[in-house]
Amino acid sequence: MTRILVTGAFGQIGTELTQALRSRYGAENVVASGRHLPGDDTVAGPVEKVDVTDSEAIVDTIRNYDVRVIYHLAAILSARGEQDPQSTWKINMGGLKNVLEAAREVGGCRVFWPSSIAVFGPETPADQTPQDTVMRPTTIYGITKVAGELLGDYYFHRYGVDVRGVRYPGVISSGSPPGGGTTDYAVDIFYEALRHGRYTAFVREDCVLPMVYMPDCIDAAIKLMEADLSSLNHHNGFNLAAMSFSAGQLAAEIKKHLPGFVCHYEPDERQAIADSWPRSIDDSVARREWGWQPQYDLARMTADMLDTLRERQQAGR
Ligand code: SER
Repeated sequence: MTRILVTGAFGQIGTELTQALRSRYGAENVVASGRHLPGDDTVAGPVEKVDVTDSEAIVDTIRNYDVRVIYHLAAILSARGEQDPQSTWKINMGGLKNVLEAAREVGGCRVFWPSSIAVFGPETPADQTPQDTVMRPTTIYGITKVAGELLGDYYFHRYGVDVRGVRYPGVISSGSPPGGGTTDYAVDIFYEALRHGRYTAFVREDCVLPMVYMPDCIDAAIKLMEADLSSLNHHNGFNLAAMSFSAGQLAAEIKKHLPGFVCHYEPDERQAIADSWPRSIDDSVARREWGWQPQYDLARMTADMLDTLRERQQAGR
C-alpha cells in the first residue's frame, strides 16, 4: 500500500483530510505531521513532528516511512501573513521548495499542494475569474502562492515531479477552526451564532467571496490526486469553487435556522485583502480535466454546519 505524508496535518484542512485519507487508505498508511503535535491522543495512526523549513527532517520522514504521496498543507494564511511577511515567505516558499526537493531526491513521489484564490489581485477580472488570467496579488501570501504554482510547474517539467493542486477559495469547516485567514469570518460566524446569537463580521455586509465546504474541499484533493496524469493539461493551480455569497447572505441563511441571530459588520484591514480577490470563479477546467463536482451550496452547507456544531456542543466537545 502506498504511504502518504501530510504536512500541516493538524491545521484546518489537514485535520479533516488526514481523517479522510486514513479511512480511505488505512490509518497505518497515513503519516500526520506538524510543527507542533496535538496534546491529545485522539489521532489514530503514525504522527511525526516535522517543521517544513527543515529539509532533512522531510527527507528522513519520507525515507523512514517509504512515502510515495505527499499532501503538503503547512502554510501561513493571508491575514497573518501581512503581520509577518518574512516568516510567511520562509514557511510558505521555503517549505514548498523543501518538499519538492525531497520528492525529487527520493524519486517517484506525487505531491499535492494547495494554491488559493489569493493568487489573484485587483487587476484580475473579479467575476467568473478564468483559469488563465492576470495574477498580480497584493498580499505576501498571494505572492507565495503564485511563485509556488510556478515552482511546481518547474519541478514537473524539469524533474518530472508529479505536482498537483487547486486554488482553494475560502474553506468552511466544522472539524477544526481556521486561523489567520481573510475568509475565517465565514466559519467564526457559525460558532458565535450558536454560542451567543450574535456576531460582528470583519468584512462589509456586501462583501462577496467564493467558498467551498470541507467535504468538497477534501473530495477535490483526493480526486485530483487519483486522476490519470494523461487527462491533466494543467497540473497545479486549478481554479475551484462551489458557491459565492456575501457576508449578509450568509447571515440571512443562518437566521433561517436561528431566527434571533444578529450580525453586525465592522470591516478592518482584512477587507482590503477581500476586495483584492475574485467574487466568483470559473472552475470549468477542473470540471473538465478531472471531474470536479461540488455537492454543497450555501443552503446545504449552512444546515450541515449548524447540525454538526450543535451535535458537538451537546456531546460537550
Ligand atoms: N482562506 C485563505 C485565506 O483567507 C485563502 O486561501 O487566507
